[in-house]
Amino acid sequence: MSETPTFVTHLECSETGKRYEADTLQGLSETGKPLLVRYDLDALGKSVSKDDLLHRAPEFWRYREFLPIRKAENVVRLGEVMTPILPAPRLQAALGGGEILIKDEGRLPTGSFKARGLALAVSMAKELGVKRMAMPTNGNAGAAMAAYCTSAGIESYVFCPDDTPQVNVREIALQGAHTYLANGYINDCGRVVGEGKEEMGWFDTSTLKEPYRIEGKKTMGLELAEQLGWDVPDIIFYPTGGGTGLIGMWKAFAELEAIGWIGSKRPRMVAVQATGCAPIVKAYDEGSRFSEPWVNAHTIASGIRVPAALGDFMILDAVSESNGFAIAVEDDEINAAQEECAKTDGILLCPEGAATLAAYKAALKSGQVSKDERALLFNCATGLKYPMPEAGGFIDLKQPIDYAAMK
Ligand SMILES: Cc1ncc(COP(=O)(O)O)c(C=O)c1O
Repeated sequence: MSETPTFVTHLECSETGKRYEADTLQGLSETGKPLLVRYDLDALGKSVSKDDLLHRAPEFWRYREFLPIRKAENVVRLGEVMTPILPAPRLQAALGGGEILIKDEGRLPTGSFKARGLALAVSMAKELGVKRMAMPTNGNAGAAMAAYCTSAGIESYVFCPDDTPQVNVREIALQGAHTYLANGYINDCGRVVGEGKEEMGWFDTSTLKEPYRIEGKKTMGLELAEQLGWDVPDIIFYPTGGGTGLIGMWKAFAELEAIGWIGSKRPRMVAVQATGCAPIVKAYDEGSRFSEPWVNAHTIASGIRVPAALGDFMILDAVSESNGFAIAVEDDEINAAQEECAKTDGILLCPEGAATLAAYKAALKSGQVSKDERALLFNCATGLKYPMPEAGGFIDLKQPIDYAAMK
């Protein structure tokens, strides 16, 4: 990566549009809403062409003009590959619907799409001189922050609900974060981070409480458009917790249209949640732009167990502007979808990814998605990090092997 200056002009409050200075450490706006990074899109569009990208490495830093880092030396890298878009032809045939594409984000460092947001947040923190970062997490974001912070020489503190999958907790600790479990939800852990800011001197890296994780997640939109020949799918199913990725993709499509790389067509954006924690779906059903905190949140898809999302209005705006919808699925349906995809097309989804397939199936049945639509589902993490059902027959090697029984 060369020393290309970025095209960032300022930050902007997502609610009021008020301008904030870039290149200085910022959290939320004065009204307590997320800040968005704004660029000189005219200059950006003139500085890079689609053809230029063809000569760049297959990693998300290829979109550097769309990103806020000013000095190449601050980019923290752990191997940010472009993730494949996999067709699922047998599943498609079995369901009798339209084309199904699965964007497999489990190939990224630390095994999830959280690497995108945290690579950007940590690189920007390095650029702005941050020495200590903290966040609440349901697992994957904490693992990504721990890894990128360690690589950047930044100290990290991670707070997880005490029922976060052990594999995530251990991964976070092993990758160098001070790791704590708390008897509450992710929002409660968020309070620990917020209230400790002064005493601990850490930078609050919670979802949407700093401006750069969205920019990292934005690369999902840039990347999938490039992979589809500068086109977008008809409909995107996104497992929605804090919703950073959905908001980020929506921003990516607007920026791509502004520089003339895509037209005005947008995918219908579908926010997928679990019935045990569905604040966005409830708000959508009630026609509201804002969600109420969900009480007694529970689901096996821990990544989307987020009782309250700070960016609810941006998620719901993208859903309604795109003529999409919000939909909740049961844990049983998530398990069934995971097994079906693995056994039909050989693609192991994480539970959150499986939720998108379960939602697609339900929407196909109800007519919310049609057979002509090309659907893209997000598998946001590797399925290998999650518990799997017990399996395997036993062979007693002291006895003759009964091959006939295996047929
Ligand atoms: C595997 C997985 N899927 C989905 C999500 C939700 O992502 P977002 O906060 O962008 O809505 C998370 C967040 O923790 C996750 O770990």
